[in-house]
Amino acid sequence: MTTVIAGISGAIGQALAERYLAQQPEQPVIGLCRHPEQVTGELRRNPALHLLPWRAAEPIEPSVKASLSEVLASSGGVHNLIYTAGLLHDRQMFPEKRLEDLDSQHLMRAFEVNCIGFGVLVQALAPWFRGRQLTRVAAVSAKVGSVTDNQLGGWYAYRCSKAALNMMVKNLSVELPRRYGPIACVALHPGTTRSALSEPFAQSLAKLTVHTPEQTALNLYRVMSNVSEADNGRFISWDGSDLPW
Ligand SMILES: NC(=O)c1ccc[n+]([C@@H]2O[C@H](COP(=O)([O-])OP(=O)(O)OC[C@H]3O[C@@H](n4cnc5c(N)ncnc54)[C@H](OP(=O)(O)O)[C@@H]3O)[C@@H](O)[C@H]2O)c1
Repeated sequence: MTTVIAGISGAIGQALAERYLAQQPEQPVIGLCRHPEQVTGELRRNPALHLLPWRAAEPIEPSVKASLSEVLASSGGVHNLIYTAGLLHDRQMFPEKRLEDLDSQHLMRAFEVNCIGFGVLVQALAPWFRGRQLTRVAAVSAKVGSVTDNQLGGWYAYRCSKAALNMMVKNLSVELPRRYGPIACVALHPGTTRSALSEPFAQSLAKLTVHTPEQTALNLYRVMSNVSEADNGRFISWDGSDLPW
């Protein structure tokens, strides 16, 4: 049972890797992120973890492809793929409050990390989905990417790129099972979680339930473990309930 976690350097990605390694200690976890050398602590020392460099929306380097192939050939392919990379803000960009804040460069970067990166990673790994066992493919999306749920507006780049990610999930949920055997491809809402991504909003989030990354990882691990072929194409919240697209 090999699990690939893209964005393992993030709060949710790291906690998920720790959860998978704790629940399934003998099973390999492949962790992808921009700076594997910055992943530290117990996680780094776990012999079942394979850390590899990867940047969202960029082609996977040949040496990384070779390392991926080596691990996947000996473990029988990908059984779980969880895309946790995401971009809401950084030094240059901050969630837009109104139309005047729209910036094409920021929009493009958000689409690259939040949507395109998932699509091209699935494209690269799909040949490793083959097998009789169910492959679970999940994109960590966000409730604010729901078109139906959008009452407040704002956050253009994040909302639009997560809505696009949701469509990517839906499309893949149609094509992947036809071509690669039993697959459930889903979008997940992790719930509000303490992380660098949510940090600037800590004050306004005070009224909401904010989970630790470890709680979120446990919630998502439970959801993922229960995902069956019948769940293919769902947008699932951290508690297992359905979210509207
Ligand atoms: N936290 C919440 O309340 C919340 C709520 C709803 C949805 N989410 C979603 O949950 C996911 C994880 O978020 P988080 O809270 O764990 O945030 P985080 O700690 O800020 O992690 C973000 C991750 O995305 C990676 N990333 C950013 N740009 C990248 C790029 N160009 N190429 C590759 N990786 C890139 C970061 O890598 P570096 O370490 O290299 O920067 C990091 O691993 C995201 O998709 C987010 O949208 C979070």
